[in-house]
Amino acid sequence: MIIVIDGPAGSGKSSTARAVADKLDIQYLDSGALYRTLTLMYLESGKDKTKFFELLNRKSISFFYEEGTFHVSVGKRDITEQIRTVEVNNHVSTVAALPKSRQFVNNLMHQAVQKETWIAEGRDLGTAVFPDAELKFFMVADTDVRAERRHRELKAQGADVTLDEVKRNIIERDQKDSRRKKDPLKKAPDAVEVDTSEMTFEQQVDFICSRITNKFETQT
Ligand code: DC
Repeated sequence: MIIVIDGPAGSGKSSTARAVADKLDIQYLDSGALYRTLTLMYLESGKDKTKFFELLNRKSISFFYEEGTFHVSVGKRDITEQIRTVEVNNHVSTVAALPKSRQFVNNLMHQAVQKETWIAEGRDLGTAVFPDAELKFFMVADTDVRAERRHRELKAQGADVTLDEVKRNIIERDQKDSRRKKDPLKKAPDAVEVDTSEMTFEQQVDFICSRITNKFETQT
């Protein structure tokens, strides 16, 4: 079974999805982390698309979720921290817009979710990747609220970045993610919209958990 949460950067979907996975004891999949992984590989290929796609074919990508962290490795190298840098932030929408990148990440995700129950979060999961997901959520929040959240996160990681820079990056990414030709960020018609601008974290988690629990109950 698969439950998806889509939404723009900083809407709260990944922290919420992780908390829901912990509370309901289900698997968690961070599709943005996979696009970030491809972006790191692209940067390390010297932004050369031919070399980048060659590298993708040669290296294996693996991931798992444990105690609040989605871990990613390329071969044996753990890149969990390297995929969260400002440089990766600044290039990820470009890499994620390449149809070959999307095909690659979608295949990885489909292979992963074959067994067990998963909550996955991203931009196009309810529309393009898992159109038959059992439950779909679309999380939104005001741009200022989202920028403040991301800024706090980056500062906590020791990044030297201003709130203004973070806000600009978020606006730019929103535009690129929602205007790209291939599988843009979009609410699926059957997704439940959750506006988190004025919700506490606990309210977001409780809302989604109760929808999932109700769904499980009506199915059994
Ligand atoms: O959720 P995030 O900020 O870690 O996502 C990083 C980028 O990956 C985001 O700018 C857009 C892209 N992305 C995507 O295009 N499709 C997804 N399903 C998930 C993320």
